[in-house]
Amino acid sequence: MKKAIWLVLIGLLIISMLLVSCKSSTDKIRVATDATWAPFEYMDNNNNIIGFDIDVMTAIAEKQNLNIEFVNVAWDPLLAGMAQGTYDCAISSITITEDRKKAMLFSDPYFVAGQMIIVAKDNTAITSFDTLTGTVGAQLGTTGEMEAQNAANVTVKSYDEIGLAFQDLMNGQINAIICDSPVAQNYVKKNQDKLKIVGDMLSSENYGIAVAKGKTDLLNKINAGITAIKAEGLIEELSAKWLQ
Ligand code: ARG
Repeated sequence: MKKAIWLVLIGLLIISMLLVSCKSSTDKIRVATDATWAPFEYMDNNNNIIGFDIDVMTAIAEKQNLNIEFVNVAWDPLLAGMAQGTYDCAISSITITEDRKKAMLFSDPYFVAGQMIIVAKDNTAITSFDTLTGTVGAQLGTTGEMEAQNAANVTVKSYDEIGLAFQDLMNGQINAIICDSPVAQNYVKKNQDKLKIVGDMLSSENYGIAVAKGKTDLLNKINAGITAIKAEGLIEELSAKWLQ
């Protein structure tokens, strides 16, 4: 009798262990994003994360039957978290770079952007990369910051959030900002009386979806999703929706 009870208990234990392991395989895929980068990833007035990237990732998830959940994380911890495998993947206007490839996997490119210089509307001194002077703002750990560091005779001021850099620029605290073209164009469009873009695009950069090392199955699904949405013309559609 005692033996029978033990067998039942052990049986129940095994079943519950199996249920736990099944559950984890259907758990949501955690997609990190730094929602401070309009119009690609930002918060609307109701605290929903929206933008070009959010639509891209949602469409990929629909195509590939992925159960995703967006997690809003600041840029610096986002890159660190991707390197440590804290998140399954990240979509956040992330430029594919050789250096980052050492710490995470990247999907095929889904968008091309470049760095741009923004100054106050009445600034006549700065007209290009070579005429940059004073303090140049950028988001910490971005390709815009790297670009600023390449400029001669400037002090680089790094911000956790690009919005704070734009506040400083509009208040006359700094002389210029270098950031991704969609973000630069969006700020200038919203503040046409205060800001302008000067000079040429400084770079050509491919955005990719970062995937935690080892998650090659997820990477393959994301790439298949990207191929499918590109074939449907969704990137052009979303460009018209978010970049006008
Ligand atoms: N494309 C730039 C980079 O990869 C900046 C991306 C910043 N993205 C953001 N959501 N803050 O360095």
